[in-house]
Amino acid sequence: MKINTLLLATLLSTSMSLASDTNPSTVSEMTVKQEGIKYIKMLGGALKEELQIHMKADKTGLGAMGFCTAQAESITKEVNSKFPEYALVRRTALKARNQANAADDLDKKIMKEYEASIVAKTFLPADIKVVQDGETTRIYKPLVTKGVCLKCHGMDISTEIQEVIKTHYPKDQAHGFELGSLRGMIVAEIKKHP
Ligand code: HEC
Repeated sequence: MKINTLLLATLLSTSMSLASDTNPSTVSEMTVKQEGIKYIKMLGGALKEELQIHMKADKTGLGAMGFCTAQAESITKEVNSKFPEYALVRRTALKARNQANAADDLDKKIMKEYEASIVAKTFLPADIKVVQDGETTRIYKPLVTKGVCLKCHGMDISTEIQEVIKTHYPKDQAHGFELGSLRGMIVAEIKKHP
């Protein structure tokens, strides 16, 4: 019973802080990890929702491809504009499609750890990593290749989609992925702040 009350209090405070993003007193009640996860969910949720709508409307994936090439970056910017200035969220990958999403050394190290745990079969999709990088805390969420991702990141991409990839991302590396492999990560970076 005690645990339930605690859980309820946590849920309430989370939904309250979601409702009032800019209220510093509610933000400071969250741990850095919780805050990072909140931002990760905002970006992940926004992109996932749009992707689902477009994949449903056009099963070939071509419509969704148009959406990703035209909107993924601007949605990322828009979501980031809602955060306090000490925070940002981005996507990255060892093999990136959009060079703007290229990984740095710390990102690469973490992705290799995730890949090793997938091989060792100890990987859990909910395994969030919190890593200190100087004054900044990074919160990492792994993204695994699912069935829906294969249309644009798999081994058997339609010629139509391949054409779009070639036009927009001549340096594309984000193809040839297998189901269950690590596609990339969403990263939140939170700078130390008062
Ligand atoms: C309709 C085509 C399409 C589908 C389906 C798709 N993606 Fe992508 N993905 C793209 C395009 C285009 C980009 C590059 C534009 C961008 O997002 O910045 C991209 C970029 C990414 C990136 C950023 C790193 C990079 O390579 O630039 C990640 C991570 C990613 N996708 C993961 C996924 C995952 C996980 C799924 C399945 C849940 C998925 N994608 C499904 C087209 C797609």
